[in-house]
Amino acid sequence: MEVFTTKDALKAHLSAFKTNDKTIGFVPTMGALHDGHLALIERSKRTTDITVCSIFVNPTQFNDPADLEKYPRPIEKDLALLQSADCDILFLPTVEEIYPPRDEAWLFDLGKLDEIWEGAKRPGHYQGVTQVVYKLFDIVKPSIAFFGQKDFQQCMVIQYMVDKLRLPLRIAVVDTVRDPDGLAKSSRNVRLSPSGRQQALSLSKALFMVKERMEEGMTPLQAKEEAQHFLLETKGIELEYFALCNPSDLSEINQEQQYIRPLVAILAAWVDGVRLIDNILL
Ligand code: PAJ
Repeated sequence: MEVFTTKDALKAHLSAFKTNDKTIGFVPTMGALHDGHLALIERSKRTTDITVCSIFVNPTQFNDPADLEKYPRPIEKDLALLQSADCDILFLPTVEEIYPPRDEAWLFDLGKLDEIWEGAKRPGHYQGVTQVVYKLFDIVKPSIAFFGQKDFQQCMVIQYMVDKLRLPLRIAVVDTVRDPDGLAKSSRNVRLSPSGRQQALSLSKALFMVKERMEEGMTPLQAKEEAQHFLLETKGIELEYFALCNPSDLSEINQEQQYIRPLVAILAAWVDGVRLIDNILL
């Protein structure tokens, strides 16, 4: 695996591939890699000629400075994981490389997506995400970029940006990777205590509960009520939102709309001082 820390060196290296008509797969990450990230790398390896992964803890998308400071940065372990996944190229820039002094301001109109759920709970978050992903796309110029369904709204935000700016690339969404007991893999899980991890399990349990109750014949809204009740009863979980939505625009469904398929159940909660999100397609 080749490691690049400057955009010019990476661009120069990749331009040769572009002229040879090779496809470039791109997996942007913030590091602290786990099997979820590696699933994106694997998919890219299978689909494209060359796979570029980036590790960059992007300061502009953290609305909470404490979260940015506490974000895990195990770079040696990440390098070893990328080597074993046979990743071709790692882009590992510094903050100054991505945000030079007197960098241009960024304000991207994301419509409703910036005002609901994660957009509402983390003001500025998707501005930071689109800002950095736009810059990274411009450097890597991928044919396909890979994102995880785990961050459902983020996938929608990126697709929205690609469509609106007519960026010449495709977005591929990869299924959420979970621990064997159901907990969605997340870089933030390492901050959970053993008891916090146990409590966090209720989040995926609640999502699976909605699916099971629907399979047993409950209406989606009844099933969600029951799962929400279970979560509100669980000690240590501070629920921020739990909603059944239309996956095309993330609007919350009502009685009449609950029969459209698929639906997506999304949630965010604080457990043990850590903010976790998860979702399931129904
Ligand atoms: P990060 O949280 O490191 O995630 C990088 C990619 O891995 C995202 O596309 C995310 O959805 C995916 N991912 C995370 N956990 C996953 C899981 N359990 N299963 C499948 N995929 C998973 O998301 C970001 O970084 C940043 O916002 C970024 C896009 C890199 C911009 O800074």
